[in-house]
Amino acid sequence: MTRIVVVGSINMDLVTQAPRFVGPGETILGERFLTVPGGKGANQAVAAARLGAEVALVGAIGDDAFGRQLRESLAAEKVDLSHIAQLADSASGTASITVAGGENQIIVVPAANARVTPAQVEHAQSLIARADAVLVQMEIPLETVEATLRLGHRLGVPVILNPAPAQKLPVDWLQLARYVTPNQHELAILLGADPDEDFRSLMQRAPSPVVLTRGGDGAWYREQGEPIHQSGFNVEVVDSTGAGDTFNAALAVFLHEGLADAVRKACAAAALSVTRLGAQGGMPGLHEVDAFLAQQSG
Ligand code: RIB
Repeated sequence: MTRIVVVGSINMDLVTQAPRFVGPGETILGERFLTVPGGKGANQAVAAARLGAEVALVGAIGDDAFGRQLRESLAAEKVDLSHIAQLADSASGTASITVAGGENQIIVVPAANARVTPAQVEHAQSLIARADAVLVQMEIPLETVEATLRLGHRLGVPVILNPAPAQKLPVDWLQLARYVTPNQHELAILLGADPDEDFRSLMQRAPSPVVLTRGGDGAWYREQGEPIHQSGFNVEVVDSTGAGDTFNAALAVFLHEGLADAVRKACAAAALSVTRLGAQGGMPGLHEVDAFLAQQSG
């Protein structure tokens, strides 16, 4: 069984489905409201577990009602919770999400996620040493992201850095990642580059191999030489929240099959994930991904 360790955020997503986005000072009537588990770290952990991996999550929740619900939902997905801190003096992270026309707007309040520490990563060392891949994103303190990259590198375990939400990072950190997985906008920010520069030239200038996501257009990947394109799959988009998380999880789970196959499966899993509401709502199981791909090539 593939073993994955995720270091990242855990949020309760407060999702409003609306006919359109509101402007400043405006009030409109929404269509539906739901409270669902989310957070980039938790989403990636759940997506990897549904794809058949043995998954542990390093993160933090508050000692509140959301924290208890988040813990229960992760346990139900069979994610190992032994490295999740429950902080008595903090709220759990939340994300206020509006979904309109398949697009989303998100405001994250990190709360407990802002207190995921490098020490927690060090405590998970034996787990990380046995992992096939580690996933880390940027909704937790940057010092913890750095600790994860350094530990993975020291132990020879591939770390996939999903630089979301994006910030410029030191080149030597990026060199520690086995793959960096931004979208086009995030890659420009990460490298401190002109946002109008062609993404293929940015990929070639990046100090580490890049797998770049392009929504419905699929993904581009590059280890050396020219970037290679993997087409996206045509599906009806209900909610794109969590598509990137599903992509990253699948990339990590299928990495041992080679990069090209892993990216193809990651595009398929991400496509399936957008067909239902909620970040974790559409995340597929392994059989769904296999059946979907068989249908595409058949
Ligand atoms: O990537 C989607 C996630 O971003 C949401 O679940 C939300 O919690 C934010 O962290």
